[in-house]
Amino acid sequence: MRSIAILNQKGGVGKTTTAVNLSCALAEQGQRVLLLDLDPQAHASLHLGVATGEAEASIYDVLTGDATLESVRHETRPGLSLVASHIDLAAAEMELAGEVGRETILRDKLADISPSAYDFMIIDCPPSLSVLTLNALTAVEEVFLPLQPHFLALHGVSKLLKTIEIVSQRLNPRLRLSGVVLCMYDTGTRLAAEVSRDVGEFFSSRTSESSPWAETVFFKTKIRRNIRLAEAPSFGQSIFEYAAHSNGAEDYRHLASEVLGATEKKAASSAPSAARRKSGAEPRDAASETAVASSLS
Ligand SMILES: Nc1ncnc2c1ncn2[C@@H]1O[C@H](COP(=O)(O)OP(=O)(O)O)[C@@H](O)[C@H]1O
Ligand SMILES: [Mg+2]
Repeated sequence: MRSIAILNQKGGVGKTTTAVNLSCALAEQGQRVLLLDLDPQAHASLHLGVATGEAEASIYDVLTGDATLESVRHETRPGLSLVASHIDLAAAEMELAGEVGRETILRDKLADISPSAYDFMIIDCPPSLSVLTLNALTAVEEVFLPLQPHFLALHGVSKLLKTIEIVSQRLNPRLRLSGVVLCMYDTGTRLAAEVSRDVGEFFSSRTSESSPWAETVFFKTKIRRNIRLAEAPSFGQSIFEYAAHSNGAEDYRHLASEVLGATEKKAASSAPSAARRKSGAEPRDAASETAVASSLS
């Protein structure tokens, strides 16, 4: 199973749109996908037409209580399961403040789910580097970073990379930034082309053997700005249900094919990539977790 957090601490860059439509595109291509909505705004859940009622359990109850992931899972589409969010999740941050090991709750809860039950687990992260995001980063092996081609696109990316590095050193040595995708791309504009070039240069200049972004792929697929993508969530539908022949549907299908290409490449080169991962980076005690929290605040 590949596990991917869709992360950018900025809001409005296309995280949720990508998490939902990439998940649906992968499911459409025969993959079994588990989508986790880790944003208290529950946009990914609503996008798929799932609104968690007051009395219903959600990811909040998994992170702060005894609920299992299995018990809050919704079968939303063929091949696509959703663990829905709820606004209560906004309080989780405070409720977990004094808890030892609060960054690893999600990873521990995932032990209930058999990795062979899914081909992909995708997490839609909140727009922050909060304890929720740390839970996502501790539970996955990959991060995809959606960027909007804006002149401040790379603003804050260094902080994000630092966070990934700290988590990879202290909590999750397998973590790496595996993909960068441009969203809301205005084809034919000079700005979009320039930002695209800057992003390519930014990541190629930061390639160093041991860093968690040494093998980051800058996806060839650019998600074009497409009004259908913005309209689909209010109908509780993916882009494939709402406008199957739109540019948005086409782009997310292409992105899914690129992502699947990487899976095939990985399977082909079965040599373990442990060499580039830091050795001895396994301390998972409470002290190191607290250190992560304080070094990020
Ligand atoms: N390619 C796109 N074209 C047009 N609108 C888009 C596109 N991608 C996202 N949007 C819209 O932009 C807004 C922000 O996107 P969203 O995915 O919610 O970002 P985030 O999750 O990073 O906050 C939403 O209203 C969404 O519908
Ligand atoms: Mg979002």
